[in-house]
Amino acid sequence: MAEKLIIFDTTLRDGEQSPGASMTREEKLRIARQLERLKVDVIEAGFAASSQGDFEAVKAIADAIKDSTVCSLSRANDRDISRAAEALAGANSSRIHTFIATSPLHMEKKLRMTPDQVFEQAVQSVRFARNLVGDIEFSPEDGYRSEVDFLCRILEAVIKEGATTINVPDTVGYAIPELYGEFIKTLRTKIPNSDKAIWSVHCHNDLGMAVANSLAGIKIGGARQIECTINGLGERAGNCALEEVVMAIKTRSDYFGLTLGIDTQQILAASRMVSQTTGFVVQPNKAVVGANAFAHASGIHQDGVLKARDTYEIMRAQDVGWSANKIVLGKLSGRNAFKQRLQDLGVELDSEAEINNAFAKFKELADRKSEIFDEDILALVSEESLSNDKDTFNFVSLSQRSETGERPHASIVINVNGTEVHSDSDGNGPVDASLKAIEKHVKSGAEMVLYSVNAISGSTESQGEVTVRLQNNGRIVNGVGSDPDIIVASAKAYLSALNKLRSQSDRVLAQG
Ligand code: KIV
Ligand code: ZN
Repeated sequence: MAEKLIIFDTTLRDGEQSPGASMTREEKLRIARQLERLKVDVIEAGFAASSQGDFEAVKAIADAIKDSTVCSLSRANDRDISRAAEALAGANSSRIHTFIATSPLHMEKKLRMTPDQVFEQAVQSVRFARNLVGDIEFSPEDGYRSEVDFLCRILEAVIKEGATTINVPDTVGYAIPELYGEFIKTLRTKIPNSDKAIWSVHCHNDLGMAVANSLAGIKIGGARQIECTINGLGERAGNCALEEVVMAIKTRSDYFGLTLGIDTQQILAASRMVSQTTGFVVQPNKAVVGANAFAHASGIHQDGVLKARDTYEIMRAQDVGWSANKIVLGKLSGRNAFKQRLQDLGVELDSEAEINNAFAKFKELADRKSEIFDEDILALVSEESLSNDKDTFNFVSLSQRSETGERPHASIVINVNGTEVHSDSDGNGPVDASLKAIEKHVKSGAEMVLYSVNAISGSTESQGEVTVRLQNNGRIVNGVGSDPDIIVASAKAYLSALNKLRSQSDRVLAQG
């Protein structure tokens, strides 16, 4: 019987640490539900002790998710661990993931602790955690740059205290596949009780090798858990991409010989949900989930694929959730067809009221756009779920004038805490004028560090999806907006970012 590989998704924790990717509790819950549909084994829902907001998000996910294990990160101290256990109390199956840095550099410069102190703290924390939850994961942060003998000593001791999973992070993405695989193999060989724990890989993508390193950790090192994120989301260059590593294990099962519990047909819906929620656009040539991943432009390739798909395709597009027929609905489609399509796309709206709202928006869109694609529906429900009754700023209407040789001008109406406000401004272009009109009223003082427009379904008929990244007082947020009119989409994205800046609770992320 082939052994099972555990998929541990950390989109909502390590992924969320990416600047601008922070998510609200509702957004996290919605992604967690999609991860459950994807059948990931473990969902790392957050870092409960880092803020009240994160505590509540972990708790909401622990209470809602039934099929996946829900995990919270925690530093190696009693307070963090108790807080994690409290947030996880309602889970069907829970895990505490505790960590402390073990590399000479991190211990000396960051923690200012001696190796013996780190050893004591790790052991005592796992002992403490084990009394609260049965499933404990321990990570030596910056493990790959740690000294092997020290790592063996500390890992042997935490396994003795009851750690059930040992994760070996390449925190700074420094590893090379073969060396990382050998590193894990060495640890497993040298540590006498290594067989009492499941070994896990956690790789960052600074040198573009997170997926390759993770696979080597499995093949050479014998690890049986991979930590990964949807779309490879994560700090700096990101984490190991779930969709890539899963499809590699599945497509090359002849080589890896491992089984997975993942429902791969849910991959694309998960990718789009994460991209639309965070505003991190997926590049067209991204493996598995990029718009071009299954597109064949060259005549020779097209001819080959038509004759026999496997001449140029090693995976079936449908197996990762791409549907063969992309045009789905139009303005004559009814509520039931819309509801069915949501279901096919893996979207669960919580109440009939939410479905009615989304359906009303769908009808509005269908009046302006003849063909409604899956991407339009996903953008629409994403906007629906992202907009929040408590939002301070809401888009109402916009008119703008731009003519060759004239300076563009925009007039906008926004709803600010229930009151409609009118503002107008000139600008270098119509988008600039519209956003300046908003800023003239709001006076956020935020600096725009990114503005990008993406055609949701590829043609000029398509909706534009705009991402705006704002920075203010050291905080970075992304806002996303979509509309067939890209100037309106831009205004919506800007307002969404302003709402996030307003509502984001102070977060104390204590680690890298
Ligand atoms: O990269 C890292 O070291 C981490 C640990 C907390 C597992 O994310
Ligand atoms: Zn990490």
